Amino acid sequence: MSDPLFRPLTIGAAQLPHRVLMAPLTRMRADDPGDVPNAMMADYYRQRAGAALIVSEGTQVSRQGKGYMDTPGIHSAEQVAGWRTVTDAVHEAGGLIAAQLWHVGRVSHESFHGGEPPVSASALPFRSRTTVKDAEGRPVRVNCPTPRALDADGIAAVVEDYRRATRHARDAGFDLVEIHAAHGYLLHQFLAADSNHREDEYGGPLANRARLLLEVLDAVIDEWDAAHVGVRISPVGSFNGVDDPEGVQAGLHVAAAFAERGIAFLHLSEPDWAGGPALEEEYRKHLRAAFPGIIVGAGNYDAQKARTLIESGLIDAAAFGRAYIANPDLAQRLRTGAALTDPDASTFYGGDERGYTDYAAYR
Ligand SMILES: Cc1cc2nc3c(=O)[nH]c(=O)nc-3n(C[C@H](O)[C@H](O)[C@H](O)COP(=O)(O)O)c2cc1C
Repeated sequence: MSDPLFRPLTIGAAQLPHRVLMAPLTRMRADDPGDVPNAMMADYYRQRAGAALIVSEGTQVSRQGKGYMDTPGIHSAEQVAGWRTVTDAVHEAGGLIAAQLWHVGRVSHESFHGGEPPVSASALPFRSRTTVKDAEGRPVRVNCPTPRALDADGIAAVVEDYRRATRHARDAGFDLVEIHAAHGYLLHQFLAADSNHREDEYGGPLANRARLLLEVLDAVIDEWDAAHVGVRISPVGSFNGVDDPEGVQAGLHVAAAFAERGIAFLHLSEPDWAGGPALEEEYRKHLRAAFPGIIVGAGNYDAQKARTLIESGLIDAAAFGRAYIANPDLAQRLRTGAALTDPDASTFYGGDERGYTDYAAYR
């Protein structure tokens, strides 16, 4: 019997040689000023090109979408040129890479927005923290302020920002885009009942709360096509101050809408890696029924969990996050059963080559 993790897989427009994906990982090492991807980032992604598909770190669709220091954007010409060096490096090494399109919404800080509050669905206080630079440029953790609610024009502008980011991602040589609708960021803030108290057509019932995500998705599909688009969701669990009491239904609702549109993949971020309970088998079955396309599972996976879930048809591929930080050749190690290196969490966010490009391949 062939190893289910190493069977080829078609994800929309992309032909994957196997099913070990690299999950999106914010590493906060882009050039400042400008939030531009640099040569060190190109090295880092090149080293990990053995993944069936790399999903890039969250990448801001606009200045307004920024929430952490030194995260890259995809709204300026310099950023597109920087990303081109990354995608070229990955392609030269035989890999594929998707751009994760990100708007943090309220998980941000006024220092990124000229002293103005960040934006969200509603102007509600919430508890989360982010990382900004102090006067000396050193990273410092701060509480996120209460955001302001986007008005109708502001919402329309966000949709256009995703459209432009999609065009830029294609111009920069990405193979696919992934819309980040997970982890309590802007699109999740609209989707979740606890963070969205709007009274217009973007708030209230679930169909309204899902409207912004689906408008963004339709704009991205219009700009490229459904075969080049995936969406990442984390409907259940608590992330960055969002804990949707209707998350179970929300996940199924949007999954059915994704299926109608025939998108390339649904990327499910599961809650247990962030301290939540493991996803229930029953929920996986409901999700599979709602979305018969490609499902990528992520969160606390090891090879065995991935194989079992692929064999049972509940997912089609698995994405690995922390293991890819410390094991640039993770897919090869899983194939051969080689030992894994443990990642050093102190170098996850920000800094230099240490803990970034200096993890060795297995010998
Ligand atoms: C350092 C770090 C950065 C992350 N950045 C992102 C991100 O930019 N976008 C995203 O969707 N998830 C992000 N995540 C979540 C991962 O994609 C993944 O879902 C999580 O690490 C669980 O998978 P794992 O148990 O294999 O590490 C991040 C996780 C870590 C540890």
